[in-house]
Amino acid sequence: MALRPILVAPDPRLKAASAPVATVDDAIRALIDDLFETMYDAPGVGLAAPQVGVCKRVLVMDIAEKDEESKPFVMINPEILDRSDSEAVYEEGCLSVPGHYADVARPDRVRVRYLDREGEEREIAAEGFLATCLQHEMDHLDGVLFIDHISALKRNMILRKLVKARKQAAE
Ligand code: NI
Repeated sequence: MALRPILVAPDPRLKAASAPVATVDDAIRALIDDLFETMYDAPGVGLAAPQVGVCKRVLVMDIAEKDEESKPFVMINPEILDRSDSEAVYEEGCLSVPGHYADVARPDRVRVRYLDREGEEREIAAEGFLATCLQHEMDHLDGVLFIDHISALKRNMILRKLVKARKQAAE
């Protein structure tokens, strides 16, 4: 297992659509292990492969609270089968948008089909915070960040601050 550097917006690689995984093999399982290690180290509740520069439709999540046992969860080639008309608003953040948070409205229930770590097809019906996290991570596979769901004004302000922070860190 290895920690992988997390890309920070604005980075064109975060805007690219990722390719489906053809075969769930040991190389994909090694990627999954790296994603978990990198996510827990950050720490974060979710990480998608494109955030470490790998354009594959793979994501990991663990939304267990600090005092709960960890609940590692991996999805390969996830697809939304159904989404509710009703929406829920959560304050979102992202390891690729460090230090910035914003309220985002998304469908509050989704049904998702995906492949697990062994390549078995599975389905999950998620609601509440889990549904939001799933949709946030799945967005990454299509090159969409949570800041793409907020006003252009606020998005551009955050992006300018990230560019400025990167310049300052490089000095
Ligand atoms: Ni994210």
